[in-house]
Amino acid sequence: MRSKITPIIGLQWGDEGKGKGVARIASGLRTEDLIVRFQGGNNAGHTIWHKGKCYVFHLIPSGVFGQAQIHLGAGMVINPAALKGEAKTIPRNVSFLGRMSVSPHAVLTMPTHLILDSISEKTKGKKKIGSTGKGISPSYTDLTLRRALRVGDIFYNDFKNKYKTLCDEHKRTLRNDFGYKMTNQELRGKEKEFFEGVKFLRSIKSENSSGIVLRALSLGKKVIAEGAQGALLDVRFGHYPYVTSSHTISSGVGTGLGIPPSYIGGAIGILKAYTTKVGEGPFPTELGGKDSAIWCRDKKAIDEKTKFPKPNPNSKSDFEQGIALRHFGNEIGATTGRLRRTGWMDIPLLKYAIEMNNATELVLTKLDVLNGFKKIKVCISYVVNGKKINQIPFDLSRVDIKPIYKIFPGWKGELSDYGKKLPKEALQYVQFLEKTLGAKIIYVGTGVEEHHVVERYWR
Ligand code: GDP
Ligand code: IMO
Ligand code: MG
Repeated sequence: MRSKITPIIGLQWGDEGKGKGVARIASGLRTEDLIVRFQGGNNAGHTIWHKGKCYVFHLIPSGVFGQAQIHLGAGMVINPAALKGEAKTIPRNVSFLGRMSVSPHAVLTMPTHLILDSISEKTKGKKKIGSTGKGISPSYTDLTLRRALRVGDIFYNDFKNKYKTLCDEHKRTLRNDFGYKMTNQELRGKEKEFFEGVKFLRSIKSENSSGIVLRALSLGKKVIAEGAQGALLDVRFGHYPYVTSSHTISSGVGTGLGIPPSYIGGAIGILKAYTTKVGEGPFPTELGGKDSAIWCRDKKAIDEKTKFPKPNPNSKSDFEQGIALRHFGNEIGATTGRLRRTGWMDIPLLKYAIEMNNATELVLTKLDVLNGFKKIKVCISYVVNGKKINQIPFDLSRVDIKPIYKIFPGWKGELSDYGKKLPKEALQYVQFLEKTLGAKIIYVGTGVEEHHVVERYWR
């Protein structure tokens, strides 16, 4: 019987713990099962702890330590040099190259895309998006401009000519639109790495995403689609323009892999026990509001450690509570090292994300980070321009929005003190979320390692 693909989707602004979630599921998969990425590029940073060591994956699916096949799908943008570098971080005794394939339709990120990304952000000044600087938006822009280089192009003799033509176009844009004259010297080292990356890419099996996925599904194999970013960063349904440039929601699995929508099953939605956001844009439940946004934009992790060596989770200052969340949750960007903005959980935003993704099962991560908080707040609705509403306004940044909170008591000690059970206060919080969000929480994350979970329902 044909199975359906299971999307694993972040329900907030990314960094929900998708990597750990995928690695955990992957450890139960067999050799003919499949884990695919369907969108995004190395803007993603998916952390997993394996045998006591920390790995961060940006392009390679997080199931690499399992046995399943892994595939970099058509909807992705791939920086070949970054891919080669990432492959080197995987221990030699883990054979994965023979299990890995890449779609010929995936777009290549060129060195000039990174420069375009950075210059475009710089010229926006205070209106910048806060991109990861990995060239993601310019790469997708070239796709819609119908001039992108794709993985399939690297196997043709005219590849270098095509590269040069597009590179010259980028140089023209930089000069004419941004007044930036790029020197050949600036590019030389990066181009060398790019072409070495391309050589590496040629050694990886190239396979159509639709073919490999549909074949696995028709054989009844398990297929997991590992989302990158989060639903609230979707290019259309996120808080535009503070979004990434791809479709991060589960329908992106269809266009990102070339499979019919009816083959996409219910998603597993990953959500953090609180909320974080990296980069600019509205964040209604941010602890410390604008002060936090500016602090996280302008300061580095070391500045924060020096000024707040032991932040108090129960401080009277919301701003300091936000710092405590960041400190306990190690909320430092896995890709860029930026401070992640922190705040309380936001139910209206989560409901929006759950509906859009058909998230039938949930994973609640990082509940342990709330150890020590005497009060845990959850936003259940908003007051917008003086009126109580439950729905998300079209543009969060153009309204005066104030969250309405429900307050839960924290628990004594640490979650790890309770073994594989949750203390009653934590259980109350989890059950409230399940009821309000209308989906089962299959397990709760209580630490960084794969086994740091409290199972609630067996899949
Ligand atoms: P992703 O982008 O969604 O894969 O998430 P990231 O890897 O960017 O960020 C999640 C961070 O939380 C990583 O540092 C993980 O190691 C960590 N993490 C994941 N689940 C848990 C958990 O349940 N508890 C704690 N304390 N950390 C977790
Ligand atoms: P994972 O997969 C968190 C954010 C950036 C910026 C916006 C646009 O680890 O959850 P981009 O470089 O994509 O043009 O940046 O999107 N962003 C992420 N935030 N986690 C991510 O990925 C992100 N990828 C992009 O911070 O606000
Ligand atoms: Mg991340």
